[in-house]
Formats: sequence, structure tokens, C-alpha cells
Amino acid sequence: MAKDQIVSTMFRFHSLYRIIATLSVFSFISIFCWCQFSSKCYSMNVIMMQKAKESIDLLTFPYAWNVLSFPAGPPSQILKIGVFVKKWPHRSHAGGLERHALTLHLALAKRGHELHIFTTSSPNSTFPTYPFPNLVFHLSRPTSGGYLDQAVVWEQFRAQNSTGRPFDVVHTESVGLLHTRAKNVPNLAVSWHGIAYETIHSDIIQELLRSPEERQATMMTERAMKVVEEVRFFQRYSHHVATSDHAGDVLKRIYMIPEERVHIILNGVDEEIFRPELSLGIDFKRKFGISKSRSLVLGIAGRLVKDKGHPLIHEALKQIFMENKKFQQSVTVLVAGDGPWGARYKALGANILVLGPLEQAQLAKFYNAIDIFVNPTLRAQGLDHTLLEAMLSGKPVMATRVASITGSVIVGPESGYTFSPSVESLKKTLYKVWNDGRVVLENKGKAARQRGLQLFTATKMAAAYERLFLCISREQYCKYQK
Ligand SMILES: *[C@@H]1O[C@H](CO)[C@@H](O)[C@H](O)[C@H]1NC(C)=O
Ligand SMILES: *[C@@H]1O[C@H](CO)[C@@H](O)[C@H](O)[C@H]1NC(C)=O
Repeated sequence: MAKDQIVSTMFRFHSLYRIIATLSVFSFISIFCWCQFSSKCYSMNVIMMQKAKESIDLLTFPYAWNVLSFPAGPPSQILKIGVFVKKWPHRSHAGGLERHALTLHLALAKRGHELHIFTTSSPNSTFPTYPFPNLVFHLSRPTSGGYLDQAVVWEQFRAQNSTGRPFDVVHTESVGLLHTRAKNVPNLAVSWHGIAYETIHSDIIQELLRSPEERQATMMTERAMKVVEEVRFFQRYSHHVATSDHAGDVLKRIYMIPEERVHIILNGVDEEIFRPELSLGIDFKRKFGISKSRSLVLGIAGRLVKDKGHPLIHEALKQIFMENKKFQQSVTVLVAGDGPWGARYKALGANILVLGPLEQAQLAKFYNAIDIFVNPTLRAQGLDHTLLEAMLSGKPVMATRVASITGSVIVGPESGYTFSPSVESLKKTLYKVWNDGRVVLENKGKAARQRGLQLFTATKMAAAYERLFLCISREQYCKYQK
């Protein structure tokens, strides 16, 4: 009888196991199908793949490498890395490409790799210094157009390459190293921070927003020819890093670069600096006299110029303030940055505070002081850093529907809002944010922080690049096993 019981229990266990196994195969398939075209859940795909104990071929991995986890310990091998970047940032309000170069290569230097940075000297300011003996700068005078003098940097590079220890890998930020030289370097990766195809969307937006008295900017046909030109010369670079899911798709589909040469690594920002810290926000608000009765603080940051969408949000706020006094009385807008639109914001009223450009530590406080970060950019190129900083600070974000943002950053309503680049759509979204109120925003902020930690930390970005560089220099590193 006891034996019977054991057998029947075993049988029950067995069929239960079969049901679970069948169910999980089912859910694997259905999640996979549901996920196919949604970057939202690629991490889920990865988890499922890991459960299935498949090893991943990194070179053809179709999703952002940021979703993978690479060992946090010291690197498997110290690499000698050559970096070409047109300009090395001296101040914290540098543009996207320069900030990417700074964050990434400082992180790699911290991990012990030997870095040689080929960049331009700046006649007016002294070059910054860093406490890493393994980070070496090779400066050269820029050309009249401000580019790297290719003949000079190539000679500097060759000299460094023939010291007995050749470079393991070469990284060029955009066309820092032109294709004419890059075509001879098989162990090279280029990171793109905006390609001509993406720019066509910005051209379309700018043309739609153009007032009759402004003259037409670039001709669309010229831009299309620029894409054709890029399609031709991009082929000459060995490996490509796309900084957004969308750019990765375009590089493979429209630029026709073979998939094993296109890798998606989303930008990351310093998670030690950009993090939630209630007291920082309180300090900041006190400093600028923002009263607690204000129910909502909107934050805007960056260069205050036209192509960052400032005319749009300026007009949207102006109209809302005129038609809705309650909105005006309950909302404060903090504007960080400088540019021609600063003065125009000031003229909108006392509830708009224009703070000027902020250094990184101040910017971290700024993010903590706001309830939502608004980015009305009209630039479809590259992947915006301010959104990532706000998300890591635990704030929801609201931004223009351009493919890099909707495909990699604000992929659904959980962490924020997206709008079309028109005054009408922006107004509608601002009203929605206001009606949703603080509690909803706080929840979205928590989701934003989770997504930020999962994808947009500098550590994640640097680990992904390190692994790519290892893989480019030695094939054994191209297999990913959990
Ligand atoms: C250096 O300073 C001069 C004069 O102040 C200015 O015209 C020039 O644009 C500056 N160059 C750079 C690279 O900042
Ligand atoms: C760097 O040096 C190695 C070893 O001598 C050589 O194989 C390689 O072609 C050199 N790279 C370039 C771009 O000259």
C-alpha cells in the first residue's frame, strides 16, 4: 500500500511536471511572439533564452547589449585601446557625442585598460587631467573646419601601434577616423551618434513648423543623397555600434550592413551622480524659493535653441497660461541651460525660473527637485542623455515621438509620456500630466528608475563596450553564457 502511494504520488508529480513544462514552453513561445517587435520586453526574451540554456552569439545578438549582464570583476584581459574623437570635453555641458566619449572611456580607464585618445588640442583652455596613468592623450591641431587632421593622427596612431604592443581594438566616435583610413583596420568599431537617415525626420518636423517668412532650410533631396553617401562609405568600417534600437535597425535594413557587424549599445550616464536623493531636491527648491504649495514642478534642460524644440514648448506654455489660470498658479517650470530662448522663457512670468547652465552636481539636484522632465527635442539623431539622467534620478519623462526615444527610452506609458512635435499635441500632454498629478508621476518615476538601472547606467554601457572590444580582439569572448 505504501508502495502504491509512492507510485501514485510520483505519478502525480510526474504529470504536474509535464504540465508545468508544457506551460513554460507555451509561455516561452507566446512571450517570444508577443515580444518580437517590442523592445519593451527584450530583457524577458533574454531571460527566456538563458532559461533555455542557449549560449548567445554576441555578434549577431539583435537587442541592446545593455540587457545582458557581464561579470563585474576585473576584466578578463587588459586591452590596449585606440580612440579617435574630434573633441574631448572640457566642461560638463558638452554635447552628446563628447559626453559619451568622456563617460565611456573614463570608465574603461578605471577598469585598468590602456587607452590612447587621439583628439584635438584646444588653443584657449588647458587640457583636463585625470588620475589614470593608463589614459594617454595624443593631441593635434584641428583642421580649419575643426576636424581631426587625419594625416597627423594616423601617424601618431601608427607610432603607438608599432611600439611592440599593437592596439587590440580601435574605437572611433563617429567619423573621428575617416573611412579612408578606417577601411584598413579590421579590429575597429565606430559608434554613431546620429545618422543622416534619422535626420530626415528632423527635417520633416522643421519644415512643418517653419513660418512663411523663414526660408527653407536643407533641401530634402540633398538629405536623401547624404543617406546614399553614408550607405556607401559606412560599409568600410568593420564594426558598428548603434546607440539606439532604431539606429541599429536602420544600419542593418537601410544601410545594409551585415547583422554580425552591427551591435546595439545604448548610451549610459553616471549612476553615482544621477540618483534619487530627496534632500538634494529639497535643498534646490529652498535655494530657488519654490514653495511647497506648487503642486507640480516641470523641468527642462539643455541648450535653449530652436532645434531642441524650445519654440514649441514656449508657445504651448504661453497658450496654457493664458487659458488656464489654475494651471499657471499650480505649476513651476525650471529651465536649466543657456541659449537664445532663455530670455523668452523669463518673459512668460514669475513661475518660470531660468537657472542658466548647471554643472553636473547642480544638475543632479535639479533632477531631484522636479516632478517630471520635459524634453521637446526636434532632433531625431542619436540618443538623448538628459532623458537617461532624469530616469536614473527617479523622474518620469515626457518627450517628442522620435524613433530613438519611443524605441529605446519611453517605450510605453509606464515611465512617461510622448507627444508629436506640434503645439497642440504638447499642450494636450501637459494637461494630461497636470491632471494625472503627483502620485501618478511618482509611480511612473519609480518605473523610470527601474528601467534606467536596467539599461542606462554608465557601468552597463562600459561593460557592454568592454565585452565588444574583447570580442573584436579575441573570438573566444564572442559567446555569452549565463
Ligand atoms: C579661442 O578664443 C578666440 C578669441 O577669444 C575665439 O575667437 C575662438 O573661437 C576660440 N577658439 C576656441 C576653439 O574656443
Ligand atoms: C598594428 O600593428 C600590428 C602588428 O604589427 C599590425 O598587424 C597591424 O596591421 C597594425 N595596424 C595598423 C592599422 O597599422
